[in-house]
Amino acid sequence: MSAASTCFATCAPGLEGVLHAELKGLKIGLIERQVGGVRFQASPREVARVNIGLRTANRVLVRVARFDCPDEDALYAAAREIPWETWLAPDGCVRVDAQVRDSRLDHSRYAEQRVKDAVVDRMMDLSGTRPSVGTIDEVDVGIHLHLHRNRATLALDSSGPPLYKRGWRTAQGRAPLTETLAAGLVLLSGWDRRAPLVDPFCGSGTILVEGGWIATNRAPNIERSFAFQRWADHDKRSLERERQAARDAITPRSKLRLWGGDWDTSRVMETEAHLEAAGLGQNADIHKADAREFTPRDGWNANIVTNPPWGERVGSVDELIGTYSAFGQRLREHGSGCHLTMLSSEPRLLDAIALPGPRTSLPNGATPCTVLRGEIE
Ligand SMILES: C[S@@+](CC[C@H](N)C(=O)[O-])C[C@H]1O[C@@H](n2cnc3c(N)ncnc32)[C@H](O)[C@@H]1O
Repeated sequence: MSAASTCFATCAPGLEGVLHAELKGLKIGLIERQVGGVRFQASPREVARVNIGLRTANRVLVRVARFDCPDEDALYAAAREIPWETWLAPDGCVRVDAQVRDSRLDHSRYAEQRVKDAVVDRMMDLSGTRPSVGTIDEVDVGIHLHLHRNRATLALDSSGPPLYKRGWRTAQGRAPLTETLAAGLVLLSGWDRRAPLVDPFCGSGTILVEGGWIATNRAPNIERSFAFQRWADHDKRSLERERQAARDAITPRSKLRLWGGDWDTSRVMETEAHLEAAGLGQNADIHKADAREFTPRDGWNANIVTNPPWGERVGSVDELIGTYSAFGQRLREHGSGCHLTMLSSEPRLLDAIALPGPRTSLPNGATPCTVLRGEIE
């Protein structure tokens, strides 16, 4: 695989626009926004660049074939024609995941099995050795089958473990946001990257770490490994060049303030540890503090990005209304000039903040959520 391939970066629905802008920023061409991700053209070196640099993508798929697939035999025959030996060593380990919709072949497990058979049979014919089949962490080549209205797309997963696994997180906290969603919120907030970034419900500090890396132009996945490194045709030099370019682009910002508050001491310690692990210790300003008494400093003009608890137990939403409404009141009384971006799953809680501003939908995993954004006058 040396020429440009059609690729697809997946993301949470609602972050496609942000992901599109990220790809543009990484100088990738022919970018097209779709539902749940963005399609683009990329050379192998660019595939390395986007895996290193994208903040809101979950994984990057590289297309190897697209064909009509009226039934299982057509799937097997087309999959067997693909030169899997380009990526898979004879004794390598393979895995297939299928997503099947509105097609005659409607069993995803069976479709996976047929693709697996085709790969194994081809490799056996060519080398006499049988590739093994493994789990996501041990595979050399992960294959994605997308079958929609009897059209099949086969793609290689170039990322491996999802891209939100950046390497800075040492503690799980309670209900942390994924790194990709936190980065998406910061990018959606329209932050100028100079004003203090503030999270008064900081939990394990995901928003502050991701925001700190955005402000210092630190790519999120410079040091981690990717699935494409195990492909037989992997070019180590282009990956190393892209890693080095990403390291050279980091711009430390000693004046940047990352202010976090949480009323739970364990969370405060987690946030401090995470900022330290992310190389942002010098920017950290973390406090044990009750957000109901939140007092932005005079002239702070902070960019507040946060996800307060939203209560999943029965009755807990009623308890939280008090917290949201007290926090909203503090913002109205003391937060003039600040900008708020808040994620919550519960419209009644967003209403309790009592701040006008546009609302957009952004699911957090399986939970439908809304982002509220507003300037505080
Ligand atoms: C949903 S979690 C935030 C998760 C965080 N974004 C992360 O990625 O780890 C909400 C946090 O708000 C904190 N919290 C709840 N009520 C609070 C209050 N009144 N003042 C300050 N922190 C509060 C909880 O301790 C919890 O850590």
